[in-house]
Amino acid sequence: MSPKLLPASSTDLLVEIAPDVERLFNRHLEAPRLWFPHEQIDWGQGESFNERPWSESDYPLSAGVRSSIYVNLLTEDNLPYYTTALSEHSPKGHPIRDWNNQWTMEENRHAMVMRDWVHVSRCIDPTLLEEGRRVQMRKGEVPHPDTFADMITYVSLQERATQIAHRNTGAKLPKDDKIGRNVLALIAGDETKHYLFYRDLALAGFAIDPSTMMIAAAKQVSAFAMPGTGIPAFTRHAVRISREGIYGLGQFLKDVLDPVLGMWDIEHLAGLSAEAEKARLNLETAVKKITETVERLTQKAAATAIL
Ligand SMILES: [Fe+2]
Ligand SMILES: [Fe+2]
Repeated sequence: MSPKLLPASSTDLLVEIAPDVERLFNRHLEAPRLWFPHEQIDWGQGESFNERPWSESDYPLSAGVRSSIYVNLLTEDNLPYYTTALSEHSPKGHPIRDWNNQWTMEENRHAMVMRDWVHVSRCIDPTLLEEGRRVQMRKGEVPHPDTFADMITYVSLQERATQIAHRNTGAKLPKDDKIGRNVLALIAGDETKHYLFYRDLALAGFAIDPSTMMIAAAKQVSAFAMPGTGIPAFTRHAVRISREGIYGLGQFLKDVLDPVLGMWDIEHLAGLSAEAEKARLNLETAVKKITETVERLTQKAAATAIL
């Protein structure tokens, strides 16, 4: 396609990467994950909230796991704004736009099936959830990566982080909630496929324009935060989720940065501009700082446990 058709934020990278988008999109379609939200739920288990209002004792659960279900579901609810943010770097006629549509279609079922399970199982307060949704969605607050390179590096990290958060939440559910565990495993499976698409697309980006990608990766790693800043009391929930061992800085380092940066081979990437070499140093410094913080927090937690 002609670069003249692209918006001002686009780069040559977006044009050159088009065949890789097609290749990875086809790979994604070759391994379909066809599951139906309505088939995952035991509808007979549901009860009227008007006749029997929600109570914490309906589904005993720690505060951290409840916070995680609440934050993860509201993040899935915020999908319209993520689609908008991705569309800002997806010009008409480019295959990345077709991918966005597929991605949106798959993401949309996550909030559906999660809410069905939440309502039938009564695992979190449905009133609090709906109030949170209203507040969050009115804000429309999501990250807006500046460039296409920023977008694919950010979403690689974000999809991996989301996969880990759903997977670890499922593992914390009571063993007898087979439906809840299955629902979160299905969602985590979708996130895995999304992660693989973006991770490998970014890898292709590094082969085309290593300097632009390195600068983007350094920026996105340094500034990375889980989505959800528009959620009421987000920081309080994030602390609880981290304390529960579901998702925090430790998981970001071990389960997100290690595999993603390793796959992109950040350490050995050659042919970088002076600016990109500087970005690599910044990136390495950022990872070192995160590692030191995680070690400090781990030692502190161990000392507290001994006391
Ligand atoms: Fe999702
Ligand atoms: Fe996803």
